[in-house]
This record gives sequence, structure tokens and C-alpha cells, in this order.
Amino acid sequence: MKSNSSPIILNTVSDLRAFLTLARGNGKTVGFVPTMGNLHQGHLDLVNKASDMTDIVVVSIFVNPMQFGPHEDFDAYPRTLNADCEALNNHPCDAVFAPTVREVYPKGVNTEIDLPSLSTILCGHHRPGHFKGVATVVTKLLNIVQPDVAVFGNKDYQQLQVIQTMVADLLIPVTIVGADTTREPNGLAMSSRNAYLSAEEKETAAMLYATLKRIGDALRSDSRVSTTLKQEKERLTAAGFVLDYLEIRDAQDLSKSYVEADSAVILVAAKLGRARLIDNLVIELKR
Ligand code: PAJ
Repeated sequence: MKSNSSPIILNTVSDLRAFLTLARGNGKTVGFVPTMGNLHQGHLDLVNKASDMTDIVVVSIFVNPMQFGPHEDFDAYPRTLNADCEALNNHPCDAVFAPTVREVYPKGVNTEIDLPSLSTILCGHHRPGHFKGVATVVTKLLNIVQPDVAVFGNKDYQQLQVIQTMVADLLIPVTIVGADTTREPNGLAMSSRNAYLSAEEKETAAMLYATLKRIGDALRSDSRVSTTLKQEKERLTAAGFVLDYLEIRDAQDLSKSYVEADSAVILVAAKLGRARLIDNLVIELKR
């Protein structure tokens, strides 16, 4: 397999399991890329990365209701299955798993996976219940696919931390791999939610990455970062962003005390127009 031909599209757990049993019977290793669809180059780069490490690649496309808050964009979230499958035709994807909500939650939500400390800070503070929804669906998807390797983007830094911690805590037999953030030429991190931005807002949105890089430079040169942070917050607000947070944390565990850490991560979440955007930058600190 691993050819750049059309992936098989499977909608049920039993069909996917039958496909995977056959593949594993032939000695194939399985890579997995969970997504909510509306695929862009960032997603496709994860598919390529998974394919570099395993024999076959499964991509799931499932807009998970449990990770959206009551006033969030679950209904508006772009659903573009045909275009997504087209995009995957040119990439090393063997199977697309596109289940219904009923297939993933056959008895509704009775069991929840929660990581209370990691899930209540940063994005978790602003999106209560979000990471519980992510952790629960990713556990389900890992149970369904049972991949050797699952690839996630560093762009969703806190999400990756939640998943790595959960997999370690629950002893789930999978290797979790993080992949670099894919960006537009102007630096804007690719995201399905960029579809909510006007052309002008897309230019403004590029400020986020520029901001992270300036704070990174300040951190590296030990300058007075609290002043820099304050100025950068003001600059973003003046440009029309409504900031949820702009913070520096320990890159290993997202704790606040990054000063002694080997590496720090600068994280930002902000609303611009209809879109809520997130980005981050990791800075090595060992001097
Ligand atoms: P979604 O936002 O579709 O993202 C799917 C995967 O693509 C995630 O691992 C995310 O970090 C990665 N990704 C998104 N934008 C990226 C970019 N610009 N560069 C590199 N990787 C990028 O994240 C989710 O879906 C969901 O929460 C999910 C994990 C599928 C659970 O429902």
C-alpha cells in the first residue's frame, strides 16, 4: 500500500476493524492521524509524517460534539468530506474513517476521560470541558484504530500535552508523535478556523506569530520579558484581537515557573472577528 491512490472510505467501526485486521495479518504497521476534517496542508503534513514511520495510514474525519462548548462553533464548523478525500488522494493515506456521532458515541456520553490539572489551564480555562471532550474522543479513536503511531500537531500544544499525559497515565500502547506547525507564507498557522477570517483579517492574524517571535527573542536575550509581554498584549488588542491569553510557560509541563526550565513555550489564544486562533513557539533556554 502507501501508494498515492484513493483511500478507502469507511464509516463504521466494524468495517474499519475488518480492514485493519487484514492489514495487520499482512504484517503492516499502522499510523493514525485524527482530524476534524476541512483538511489543509498542516493535516496533510501529519499524514506524510505518519507514512514515513508506518506501512499504512488511517486518517479519521470526525467533528467531535463533545469538545465544543454550548456557544461554540459545532454547527458552523466546516464539513468538507468530498474535498478532504480529494486532497488525500495525492497523499499516502490508505483509509479514511468518517463515522457518525452515533458510531463513536453509541450510548451517548457515559464515560469521560479527564485530566483535571492540565484541562483547566490556558485554553481549558477559556473552554471549560473542551479537553475532556478531546481526551475522551482520542481514547475512543485510539481504541478503534489501535495504531502503532499516532501523529498530532504541535500547533495545538496543550492538546498534545493532554494526549501524551493521558496515553502515559492509561498505558495505552501507542507512540505519540508531535509534528511541526505548518504556516502560511505570512506566518499564520494553518487552521480550519482560518476559513472564518476575511482576507484583511488573515493579514492581521499573521501578527500572532510575529508577536511570538519577538517575545522569543526577548526571552533568549534575557531582556525584561514582563514589559515585552505587556507591550505585545497592547499591540494585539490595538490591532483588533480580543486576547484570551498570552503567556510563557515551562514547555515540559505547562507550569508557570519557566525561568529554571530547559525550554519555555510562549502560547497565545485570541479572537479575531469570528475566529478563535491559537499559536505557540518553543524556546530553548539552557544557556
Ligand atoms: P483538527 O483541528 O482537525 O486537527 C487535527 C490535527 O492536525 C491535530 O493534531 C492538530 O494539532 C493538527 N494541526 C492543525 N493545524 C496544524 C498546522 N497548521 N500544522 C500542523 N498540524 C496541525 O485537533 C483536532 O482536530 C481535534 O481536537 C482531534 C485531535 C481530531 C480530536 O477531535
